[in-house]
Amino acid sequence: MSVVNSLELINRLTKENLDKYCSKADVELIVLYILDIKRSELYRSNPSVDKVQLKKIKNFIERRNLGEPIAYMLCNKGFWNLDFIINPSVLIPRPETELLVEKILSFYNSKPLKLLDLGTGSGAIGLSLLSERPTWEVYCSDLSFDALKVAKENKENNLVNAHLINADWLSAFENNSFDIIVSNPPYVDKDDTRLLGDGVLYEPNEALVAKERGLSDLKHIIKHAKAYLKGSGCLLVEHAPEQSKEVIALFKNFSYESIRLFKDLNGDDRVSFGRIES
Ligand SMILES: C[S@@+](CC[C@H](N)C(=O)[O-])C[C@H]1O[C@@H](n2cnc3c(N)ncnc32)[C@H](O)[C@@H]1O
Repeated sequence: MSVVNSLELINRLTKENLDKYCSKADVELIVLYILDIKRSELYRSNPSVDKVQLKKIKNFIERRNLGEPIAYMLCNKGFWNLDFIINPSVLIPRPETELLVEKILSFYNSKPLKLLDLGTGSGAIGLSLLSERPTWEVYCSDLSFDALKVAKENKENNLVNAHLINADWLSAFENNSFDIIVSNPPYVDKDDTRLLGDGVLYEPNEALVAKERGLSDLKHIIKHAKAYLKGSGCLLVEHAPEQSKEVIALFKNFSYESIRLFKDLNGDDRVSFGRIES
């Protein structure tokens, strides 16, 4: 193939990869990345692709077809209103996790408060919230130092000023500190077939898998977060839809109040909420 225009190329490569992992959206992202242009420019000027660029594009498509996630290949993933640098030290932020951000923003206005994002990974939840509520004091913590390096880059690139803390869950914090604790902890069972889904094997196991059928970290957080919340403070956690009954039972066992369960855009139970007494 000699020099071609990019839109024609995208259509051709999409057809050639119809039954493989690399979707049309992936082909388009790869072309944008290799040509270093924005989507608007692609459709406005339909630039041509030379042989060297074509070779690189095909190489990326091959990697994608072997299962490598597009976010790791392009080192980027959009979440909420920000762009996040992503590498294999961190989980690729999922669209369903935006429900945590959406709920917190709907409950709390710009009045200053203190929030902790436990297991922050790339910083997706905490940094997105801080970009929307710059008056808040936001702490983003993770056990993985490599994940925190990614969160630091994301903090700097997105010009938000979160505190980054390397700690095992709540161990670094003082009691009675936070108005909101939010967490998307590991919650997948080690034998869950979802671990074999597209690209998941490339993600850090310790960001996904938890003991006790995926519930051990959720249990730990729900049990201990109470002590770190100020009066009327609340905890929100993400979990798998089939864990919702057990997660709600944990909130009840540990005497949270105003307990609620929220569904994601697919209609699946995804986020549980509880408040402590004022
Ligand atoms: C499901 S990922 C969530 C990442 C990010 N918050 C997101 O939603 O995209 C869980 C995160 O919890 C972190 N983690 C696992 N065990 C931890 C522990 N004991 N203490 C603190 N963080 C932990 C992992 O390193 C990972 O970054």
